[in-house]
Amino acid sequence: MRDLVNVCFQNSYSYFYEFLCQKIYFLQNFDDVLVPPDHISRSYNDTYYIDPQTVLRCHTSAHQAELLRRGHTHFLVTGDVYRRDSIDSTHYPVFHQMEGVRVFLPGDWEASGMDGTSYAAEDLKKCLEGLARHLFGDVEMRWIDTYFPFTNPSFELEIYFQEKWLEVLGCGVTEQEILKRSGKTDNVAWAFGLGLERLAMVLFGIPDIRLFWSTDERFTSQFSKGQLGVKFKPFSKYPPCYKDMSFWINESFTENNLCEVVRGVAGDLVEEVCLFMFLPITGLGPLHHFSQVAELLYIFDCQVQLIDNFTNKKGMTSQCYRIAYRSMERSLTDEEINELQWNVREQVQSKLKVVLR
Ligand code: DAH
Repeated sequence: MRDLVNVCFQNSYSYFYEFLCQKIYFLQNFDDVLVPPDHISRSYNDTYYIDPQTVLRCHTSAHQAELLRRGHTHFLVTGDVYRRDSIDSTHYPVFHQMEGVRVFLPGDWEASGMDGTSYAAEDLKKCLEGLARHLFGDVEMRWIDTYFPFTNPSFELEIYFQEKWLEVLGCGVTEQEILKRSGKTDNVAWAFGLGLERLAMVLFGIPDIRLFWSTDERFTSQFSKGQLGVKFKPFSKYPPCYKDMSFWINESFTENNLCEVVRGVAGDLVEEVCLFMFLPITGLGPLHHFSQVAELLYIFDCQVQLIDNFTNKKGMTSQCYRIAYRSMERSLTDEEINELQWNVREQVQSKLKVVLR
């Protein structure tokens, strides 16, 4: 995600990655960005304190002032942030943020006829809308006016995701006091802090932020660096149970019908049904062979799998299917799976008129 966002800002920004230590001074986290003494985020209830002077950074904004003081005017900071927060599908006590800051000179806004603040606010919104379109294409988004101690005006960007508005970033025009303290008196700046997991949730259709901490191969194997356009495929945390079934098919047999019958018996306990056609019948042209290979690769995604197929001397074709049973809520017992499988066999035989082997 970080690299994807970086690409959008191209080469005009300096990047600072995780080398910025996550244990930071209380002052950096709060005072440097003008968080008032009585602000709720300072409480032990909201922030992880290591000792009264040191906290686990609760936002990447903690590094703004330090980098401005060092003379940087365009930068992105990426890091892990820690908050005592509710745990649900969009909140987790550790996540990753990317901070962006851009400082303007009077020459930048004077020609536009706008004042510095309006110019920066407009540029900020344009820039972040561009980022959202770059990442998600034509997505539904909206701006919400809000409050942050370090910006005025302040905004949040929300994206419509899984039938809800999801906040993906906070931003605004930097308070003059922050710029003044870093020796920039004639400037205007904007800043944003975006949640990288939340962006990834929208991009890959990941429904729960807790999944980013999963070591389950069924999650981790779905994604790899640089591979975009992948959509998360749900899985259950309970193990699957596999049952194989072989039969001689007839001319009217289709996998669609098979899947219908299996679903009719086992309902949602069958994780997924996919269509697959793999008939090594001689006489088919090279194109068919190509599509067979393609479908053979595809089969590894499927939960009703054709795992064997042959044609005997009489021209009858036998196929063997593997069915994966799995519940999202509980472990299935051997007895119930055996009973389901027994019913599936009976129904497949009677409804599809195939001959079980
Ligand atoms: N630090 C804010 C947060 O974690 C996000 C944010 C808002 C960052 C406004 C900014 C900003 O740089 O200008 O919720």
